[in-house]
Amino acid sequence: MMTTGMLKEDALKGKVIIVTGGGTGLGRSMGKYFLELGAHLVVTSRKMEVLENAAKELEEETGGKVLPLACDVRKYNQVENVIEKTVERFGRVDAVLNNAAGNFISPTERLSHKAFDVIVDIVLKGTYNMTLATGKHWIEQKQKGTFLSIVTTYAWTGSGYVVPSACGKAGVLALTRSLAVEWAKYGIRLNAIAPGPFPTEGAWSRLLPPDVEKLFDPANKIPVGRFGEHQELANLAAYLVSDFSAYVNGEVVTIDGGEWLQGAGEFNAFDKIPSEMWDAMEKTRKR
Ligand code: HXC
Ligand code: NAP
Repeated sequence: MMTTGMLKEDALKGKVIIVTGGGTGLGRSMGKYFLELGAHLVVTSRKMEVLENAAKELEEETGGKVLPLACDVRKYNQVENVIEKTVERFGRVDAVLNNAAGNFISPTERLSHKAFDVIVDIVLKGTYNMTLATGKHWIEQKQKGTFLSIVTTYAWTGSGYVVPSACGKAGVLALTRSLAVEWAKYGIRLNAIAPGPFPTEGAWSRLLPPDVEKLFDPANKIPVGRFGEHQELANLAAYLVSDFSAYVNGEVVTIDGGEWLQGAGEFNAFDKIPSEMWDAMEKTRKR
């Protein structure tokens, strides 16, 4: 398990990075590491009080500068306002971390069409709003920039019981791969990270009732036998928004301890076969 930072101290020095959903959970952890590496941070989400507290604590913890801005990513005018206010305060935008999300765990037939809308609107519309508004700004300013979006491994495998989220995340991955090619000529890069389970209040206490949480026992579900550490994700995110990853474009990097492949591999359940049974099979074969 890795709990220390990976990049050299000034790896993001002077870079201005907007993190949506940056006041809580993984967004906050990644933002904190960006600050430690010298970036200026803008944290956005709907709840201003949460953002203001986070901004204050992050400034105290890192000595960096943090601008909290209320913004519902579903509203294009609010997204444009974030870019305007960021430029006003820090003079420029260098990177956007599309991290804000919503999710319901439910049999799909129990969801109202409005519930489906809510999730797809936050995840997909929110990400394309942020991406379109910032992309237009960079192209107009003839400025380079980089997007990093947080998806999930079920963006490509799909998953029951989180279908609106799966649809939204799959769309975000398509957006990433499409624009990585179309906008490379402007010096704009787009990449994504697909995390496996990383405990956060938003994804755990709110999403998984205690009995259901047992289904997430890492000993059974994850080949490396544990959940992810926030710093491990922050290290990867910092690399992907930094100039060190200048030649990485249109990529999605999985960080899940091998979780999704464990479910996919035809013979992976053979982990459960005890060594005496392998001995017996070997004897039979040799005979
Ligand atoms: C089914 C639900 C529901 C639930 C609300 N609805 N909660 N349906 N299951 N648990 C329905 C309502 O009935 C309503 O439809 C519609 O959804 C909208 O309800 P609202 O009350 O307006 O929604 P609201 O509570 O305002 O906000 C929902 C939300 C909120 C924005 C998504 O939960 C939120 O803030 N989420 C952010 C935190 C979060 O989800 N984090 C997890 C990210 S983790 P009707 O028709 O009745 O009006 C992740 C990956 C997890 O994405 C991977 C784990 C390994
Ligand atoms: P989280 O703390 O609940 O983060 C979600 C954030 O999104 C919150 O800060 C929330 O703030 C913000 N948000 C929700 N709706 C919004 C809207 N309409 N406009 C703007 N902001 C909005 O959960 P998390 O676990 O850290 O998740 C962060 C990201 O990681 C998400 O993209 C999630 O899908 C992804 N992910 C997480 C895991 C995991 O195991 N934790 C695994 C795979 C992927 P407000 O409520 O203030 O708006």
